[in-house]
Amino acid sequence: LNYNVSRERRYILEVLLNGLRRLEYRGYDSSGIAVDADLLPALSSAPYAGAAPLVYRQEGKIENLVRSVYSEVDENEVNLDAAFNVHAGIAHTRWATHGVPAPRNSHPQSSGAGDEFLVVHNGIITNYEVLKETLIRHGFTFESDTDTEVIPKLAKFVFDKAHDEEGDVTFIEVVNEVMRQLEGAYALIFKSPHYPNELIACKRGSTLILGVNELSGQKIGKSFHDVKALTANGKPKELFFSSDLCAIVEHTKNYLAIEDNEIVHIKDGSVSILKFDHDKEKPASVKRALSVLEMEVEQIKKGSYDHFMQKEIHEQPHSLTTTMRGRLKDGGVLLGGLKEHLKTIRRSRRVVFIGCGTSYNAALAARTFVEELTGIPVTMEVASDLLDRQGPIYREDTAVFVSQSGETADTLLALDYALENGALCVGITNTVGSTLSRRTHCGIHINAGCEIGVASTKAYTSQIVVMAMLALAIGSDQISTQPRREAIISGLSSLPGHASEVLKLDSEMKELASSLIDSESLLVFGRGYNYATALEGALKVKEVALMHSEGMFAGEMKHGPLALVDENLPIIVIATRDACFSKQQSVIQQLLSRKGRLIIMCSKGDASAVSPNGSCRVIEVPQVADCLQPVINIIPLQLLAYHLTVLRGFDVDQPRNLAKSVTTQ
Ligand code: G6P
Repeated sequence: LNYNVSRERRYILEVLLNGLRRLEYRGYDSSGIAVDADLLPALSSAPYAGAAPLVYRQEGKIENLVRSVYSEVDENEVNLDAAFNVHAGIAHTRWATHGVPAPRNSHPQSSGAGDEFLVVHNGIITNYEVLKETLIRHGFTFESDTDTEVIPKLAKFVFDKAHDEEGDVTFIEVVNEVMRQLEGAYALIFKSPHYPNELIACKRGSTLILGVNELSGQKIGKSFHDVKALTANGKPKELFFSSDLCAIVEHTKNYLAIEDNEIVHIKDGSVSILKFDHDKEKPASVKRALSVLEMEVEQIKKGSYDHFMQKEIHEQPHSLTTTMRGRLKDGGVLLGGLKEHLKTIRRSRRVVFIGCGTSYNAALAARTFVEELTGIPVTMEVASDLLDRQGPIYREDTAVFVSQSGETADTLLALDYALENGALCVGITNTVGSTLSRRTHCGIHINAGCEIGVASTKAYTSQIVVMAMLALAIGSDQISTQPRREAIISGLSSLPGHASEVLKLDSEMKELASSLIDSESLLVFGRGYNYATALEGALKVKEVALMHSEGMFAGEMKHGPLALVDENLPIIVIATRDACFSKQQSVIQQLLSRKGRLIIMCSKGDASAVSPNGSCRVIEVPQVADCLQPVINIIPLQLLAYHLTVLRGFDVDQPRNLAKSVTTQ
């Protein structure tokens, strides 16, 4: 960070800690920060060119870290208002993969005494065991259980060796050599007191963003290989590295998605970008252009809501509108990102939907209407299972990858696999600039706005809507299905209004939640279009309310689950009007004759048709085109999961053990 001398030093800490708060939804079991010791001169002992950095690491939520940093600052009565020119700090929030959440396993990881090299890492180093053994043989001792710790230690090893042999070595040369030896997926930021006022970031696999603030008077989008050329206007500037745009949006909208094998060097506030090449000794300089981020700061704030999940549930009338904006035209569908590939998709032998968690469920909700409108068979793949089986993917397949974040490791590995097998790869994601959007041949952004609650809500409904538009676009050359397509398009236009209507069930769902608060388990039965709703409703309850819950095929009820039915176990049956309605009516009868404790979701006006003697609790929802009904039906279940979580006293936005983007396998 490069400022005019009059700004408060405390600002540095606040920028970093606030950035961590913005990223907390990505991982929240431990965190850490490194700032230069000259920020806190009372604590500095500096054997290097620069002062030894101060490193804080804490287990638990970011606020634990914040408290520990400020208590030290205050205890030592450090004057944070002193002037400064340049400062380079790094910070990290972790979702544990190797090693339990503990300060010693938090990042920044260190090269050892004196913190000569500090590294924050997102990803997994697959050859860390071999590297660790080698480094131990060279006298290094390891303190953490992380894969990351090998990186700063390797940097120190490279630095010491080069110093002994050649004297001077640049920061870039050190990082270049480290990259040569690392295998796996990573986005890394290096900091070292040997190179004061410098930071180096590099990546392979995991996403890394560079944000550049203050480019006034300069033309954004112009090619450059040295940002200094663009920013050398004498104005103060800030440069940010982040694994997510959410952490930088409040500072700048000018960003660059760093590509694989790029090394970005920040020195005294200027930037240069180099390309790592395994076969060449030195990385070559590359030209890149900045993009402008289309995201408003409000998107990453809770506003008047208590939780992000609550805000995102209630935002759905709006997010559904933005998903469809400009895409429903003249009675048809316009998807700019697919234009060139529609013909190839139409000729596909099959469509394979691939995703994880909620994104998989969204694809499952879309499967039936994609088959119906396109005539192409659709198969479903959970990304990790496709990889485990090395399931067949052919050149004639269209593989559709669905991922809110566009960064889920399993989904991205499945994408690599499908690309290797020659399939046409289509991405459906909420995240502009994500790895998924960059690596697929074509795709559709769902434009639902930033989703921060770990439990996906608005992204789910927007994903289904995008897949409906995809099916309409693929099938648009079929005359026989035209009336059906027109009905669906008109259904899409009225969806936001129906979403607003169903949100009025909020207090009813809160009341229902309070009646379920002590239940140990909850079953959800669905079929046809709403089998996915049953899975997704149960997933919401499971992940946030920490209550055991299963979504099941109503048609499978008599083949096992019926044995569980008694007067205590709450069961939600989805029985809105569609071709399966009468079958659901008989499921209800069978459950009632076993004294089942039923909660029935039905179309408005159908209460007496599903619960003739009024013995069941009924949730009445507005009826929409049958294939779009899952978009409406999930909303009361999202509300139920939300209220159940609050009433049970759990953390809504950061459920135990989970993370929003699982960027490791
Ligand atoms: C994690 C999240 C889920 C999400 C899944 C897939 O497990 O906790 O909420 O559905 O990843 O994420 P994606 O970003 O690929 O949609």
